[in-house]
Amino acid sequence: MSWLQALFSNDIAIDLGTATTLIHIKGRGIVSCEPSVVAVQIDGRGERRVLAVGKDAKEMIGRTPMGIEAVRPMRGGTIADFEITVEMLRYFIQRAHSSRPLVRPRVIICVPCGITDVEKRAVRESAEATGAREVYLIEEPMAAAIGARLPITEAAGNMIVDIGGGTTEIAVISLAGIVHSQSLKVGGDRMDEAIIEHLRRKYQLQIGERTAEAIKLRIGNAWPQSVTQSMEVKGRGMTAAVPSTVTVNSDEIREALSDPLTEIVRAVRQALERTSPELSADIVDKGVVLAGGGALLTGIDHLLRDQTNLPVLIAEDPVGAVVIGAGMALDDPYLLRHVATK
Ligand SMILES: Nc1ncnc2c1ncn2[C@@H]1O[C@H](COP(=O)(O)OP(=O)(O)OP(=O)(O)O)[C@@H](O)[C@H]1O
Ligand SMILES: [Mg+2]
Repeated sequence: MSWLQALFSNDIAIDLGTATTLIHIKGRGIVSCEPSVVAVQIDGRGERRVLAVGKDAKEMIGRTPMGIEAVRPMRGGTIADFEITVEMLRYFIQRAHSSRPLVRPRVIICVPCGITDVEKRAVRESAEATGAREVYLIEEPMAAAIGARLPITEAAGNMIVDIGGGTTEIAVISLAGIVHSQSLKVGGDRMDEAIIEHLRRKYQLQIGERTAEAIKLRIGNAWPQSVTQSMEVKGRGMTAAVPSTVTVNSDEIREALSDPLTEIVRAVRQALERTSPELSADIVDKGVVLAGGGALLTGIDHLLRDQTNLPVLIAEDPVGAVVIGAGMALDDPYLLRHVATK
């Protein structure tokens, strides 16, 4: 039966993230994982036309000529540019359709905890506009917890910390409900900004956000490693305003990241303080599970373990956890009824 089911299956899960948008189709897995970036051309009348979406658009950040703009419509954990978000959603859904047409799919979309009802309705409508038969919304940390295979329906506390691009969402979940949640406007973007600031201050070198992210991915870390790594960075000198190169090492990058990391640690500790003693006891046993791209920062689990005295685990696929969890929720009538809204 399974191939037959897969053949006719029309279920799509979408993680509309501030940094990355992922699409999961039942029976096919994750079919798309692309930056949430849209390049638009602005004509003389101020009208915007979409030129590129995803990877191609991200390449253009910081490199666009007059009249073209690379937009991150979901910046900061909320929908900053609604129209473009809808365009982006439509593009990704249509592309998933075109690789194999889907007949009136059921769609589940993960949304940040804090978005308004107006935004929710608009996200829903945009999915409906692409031909969805039924649209469900699920909150990101809930989807992340399901995707990380936490036993969320049990009467026991589970803590998930999802460190994304724009926000870090911390949630304690028990009996398929969010008992406590907190959203912090600190994530990978703030880390990139901290690196930009460090290079400006220490070397008088200006770099763009893509270069800052590349430094973070290559030598960024939250806990001292046995070998200090270094890397050459090209940018624009601030005094002479000409291209120049400096060498940075992993120790100074860790130092540069200490502000955003301290804020994340503080929020996790605060969430633990606000959790009832029973649930806290569960978390002491089971630990904290990290998800989101930020969970991949070298040593972040070590830092949190050190600062909370709790076991800290990284989800198996931290970036995919949210969309995988949403797909699992769509596939399970009990979960769908309890964790999603129609
Ligand atoms: N190996 C890595 N080390 C450090 N940071 C990483 C790594 N891989 C990805 N990231 C960062 O993770 C962030 C993106 O994470 P993710 O895709 O979970 O965000 P998102 O879900 O789009 O954002 P949000 O949940 O805030 O809406 C980016 O800032 C990216 O630079
Ligand atoms: Mg996310």
